[in-house]
Amino acid sequence: MIDHSAIVGQGDGIMAELRDWTQWFAAYDDPSSALASRLLVVNDGIVRALNEAPPGAIRILYLCAGQGRDILPVVAAHPRRTDVVARLVEVDPAIADVARGTAANLGLTESIDIVTGDAADPATFADFGPADLLLLCGIFGNISDADVANTVARAAGLTARGGTVIWTRHRHEPNLVPSIHDWFAQAGFSLLWESDAALPESVYVAGHRQERDPAPTQNTDKLFTFVK
Ligand SMILES: C[S@@+](CC[C@H](N)C(=O)[O-])C[C@H]1O[C@@H](n2cnc3c(N)ncnc32)[C@H](O)[C@@H]1O
Repeated sequence: MIDHSAIVGQGDGIMAELRDWTQWFAAYDDPSSALASRLLVVNDGIVRALNEAPPGAIRILYLCAGQGRDILPVVAAHPRRTDVVARLVEVDPAIADVARGTAANLGLTESIDIVTGDAADPATFADFGPADLLLLCGIFGNISDADVANTVARAAGLTARGGTVIWTRHRHEPNLVPSIHDWFAQAGFSLLWESDAALPESVYVAGHRQERDPAPTQNTDKLFTFVK
């Protein structure tokens, strides 16, 4: 296992500007919460991506992975778990440690690399290569619209042909979801599925498939900046 902390640092530079997400994660433990309903949709999307992955390694990249609540138990329970090679990037060391503890408890330490670092900085994932599953959950509601557009465009370079991107965003007005769909289409993705419109307005999840070969890029600019 590579110790990426030496490469990307511990994210201290932006830690001072970040909010404390502890309470946000607590909502996962309340089955009646909107976040718990979102979790089920994301889980289903991950299972679908694993089920449909061709034989061989399944490469998963998760930017701003948090405690890994949506990905780790699903991978652990899936018949393809031994095919998974994953990189989770989370800037908050305490939150990343929770993810590491869960991965260890689930026996996933060898296959899931949890990096403490800035997921907006390509240095944290440049060596990982195109992903078969790219997770952008809990990001688009916390960055500017321009950064959402930029991140979607850059996702095209991070996702293998035939790979899936799963993303989340609330649908509060002004609802950015239709624009995000347009940006994914422009970046070469097709819509695979989307969450039920009857879910709370704070919940929207979609899965898109990359229909092109990812263009190699040397772009070292940051993808986004959290503003919330
Ligand atoms: C809304 S939570 C989402 C967590 C997880 N993706 C989920 O859906 O359960 C946002 C997470 O992003 C992390 N975060 C914020 N800015 C980040 C950055 N630049 N790089 C990596 N993680 C970041 C926060 O510490 C927090 O854990």
